[in-house]
Amino acid sequence: MRRILSAPAWPYANGPRHIGHVSGFALPCDMFSRYQRMAGNKVLMVSGTDEHGTPILVQADAEGVSPRALADRYNRVIADDLTCLGMTYDLFTRTTTRNHYAVAQEMFVRLLENGYIFPRTALGAISPSTGRTLPDRYIEGICPICGYPHARGDQCDNCGNQLDPADLIDPRSRINGETPIFKETEHYFLDLPAFADALGSWLQSKAGQWRPNVLNFSLNLLDDLQPRAITRDLDWGVPVPLDGWRDRPDKRIYVWFDAVIGYLSASVEWARRSGDPDAWRAWWNDPDAESYYFMGKDNIVFHAEIWPAMLLGYNGEGGKGGTPGRLGRLNLPTEVVSSEYLTMEGRKFSSSRAVVIYVRDFLARYDVDALRYYVAIAGPENTDTDFTWSEFVRRNNDELVATWGNLVNRVVSFAARTAGEIPAAGLLTDLDRDLLDRSAAAFAVVGEHLGASRFKFAITEAMRTVAEANKYFSEQAPWNLRRSDPDRMRTVLHVALQLVDDAKTLLTPFLPRSSQQVYQMLGGSGTWSDMPRIEEVDEDGGPSYPVITGSYDGAARWYSRPIRPGTPLAPPAPLFAKLDSAVVDEELARLGAPHAS
Ligand code: MF3
Ligand code: ZN
Repeated sequence: MRRILSAPAWPYANGPRHIGHVSGFALPCDMFSRYQRMAGNKVLMVSGTDEHGTPILVQADAEGVSPRALADRYNRVIADDLTCLGMTYDLFTRTTTRNHYAVAQEMFVRLLENGYIFPRTALGAISPSTGRTLPDRYIEGICPICGYPHARGDQCDNCGNQLDPADLIDPRSRINGETPIFKETEHYFLDLPAFADALGSWLQSKAGQWRPNVLNFSLNLLDDLQPRAITRDLDWGVPVPLDGWRDRPDKRIYVWFDAVIGYLSASVEWARRSGDPDAWRAWWNDPDAESYYFMGKDNIVFHAEIWPAMLLGYNGEGGKGGTPGRLGRLNLPTEVVSSEYLTMEGRKFSSSRAVVIYVRDFLARYDVDALRYYVAIAGPENTDTDFTWSEFVRRNNDELVATWGNLVNRVVSFAARTAGEIPAAGLLTDLDRDLLDRSAAAFAVVGEHLGASRFKFAITEAMRTVAEANKYFSEQAPWNLRRSDPDRMRTVLHVALQLVDDAKTLLTPFLPRSSQQVYQMLGGSGTWSDMPRIEEVDEDGGPSYPVITGSYDGAARWYSRPIRPGTPLAPPAPLFAKLDSAVVDEELARLGAPHAS
């Protein structure tokens, strides 16, 4: 049994999630985690909404509400989206809890005491018309590295480099176009150069294990390690836990510094809620425990450089030494699993231009397993990938409906009609045996792919067993054996039903909803694949908030389970709905018109 921390990135609480978001951080992590639980490992999957920083402030301004009200609104919306997707979080919480503040401040203080955080004056941007600070994201200009004209003060979306607003050529305010003035302001910095050696050897040890894109990108970051400001001139965020700073209304910890700590604070909150406050330690302090972080590629720098540096510094394992704080020595990520970008019909997802399909709208019209299937088999796992409605409809109809759904339907209905139960097998032919062996052997292959986050290979292999079972059923043609050889017919049905049962197990991490249905069709009762639920909680009587949680102790296990002859069978309801080709035009008409720019 392995202990596995599953750590999907924290979505900003600034709007509902669209399928571009969830194809990167969410669904791959859930497929991985479901598989690991089925394989008998102890998974802790924690995350929450990321509720501080400029992304929240920008949207709060746009909606004319306070940042807190905005975060409260979208924390609920997002928790709902993720629950409907079947995301099996042990805890999905938020970064505005008291617990999170305390853990983030503990991390800050220990990094300071170990010598990895230091104060320094920097240039901050001020709006000349209001005299107020202009946060990095509100500033736009020409990227000094690639020349992209719409680079933001915090990063360039074109070349992906992290920027300082003062680096931008021709900076201007995104609010009113004025040129900001830069003034000296004091901030705390994380001493990233002090981690150069430790980060280097940690990353080197991952060669051959991480996706090459992610490892190369992370190694390149080491070439230019600069101290990085981890406080901001803002009034929305975790207070800086130092005398003279704590009560200042205009200084807060930088959102990315606090957000990555969420994985740890959410683990602590989960343990407290589960009644064993130290239970989180088994995933964080035990050096044998593993941790897998899932995200889109714009998050790599934070998970493969900044968060590991923070952990090293907390542990006292950077160039300046030191000792761990009261949370003990903390594990670095085993793997940073990053996906590439998903585009929508050839364009970037954009809520403002209506180039988007929100999770909620998607699930109102289509099956959750159809989305999960698409993301697994055609998601942006290793390269930027385009979502098209025609491809979605084609994969739904040709693969889910015509291949897997059809196999289940024809085998179970024929068996229900002719035998009324799972028949016992007579003498197996070599072909029968070979096919059953290949099906049982698929567990090792698909499992190895899933454990390494190779979702496309994994689901393709699982679907290969489905194709073989279809071929077997057609070629054996049990309908022709009814009178001539009823014993052989029952054997063929038995073999085919066993192949169906295996396939539903192999597909469970991807298709938990329909796998539960197949489980019941074949006589299973109770829960096979678990689903999460929303609970309303509070902190010592404070304001209540929703969390996603669940008890993930369903029957699903990662092996070929022999079906039981004599189990009654009823004619099944269809597993998936076939989509009319008109769906493509309807959905395209909903998208905003393409722009010239
Ligand atoms: N909110 C960030 C984004 O959407 C992700 C934060 S991941 C965390 O890009 F680990 F920092 F929380
Ligand atoms: Zn650039």
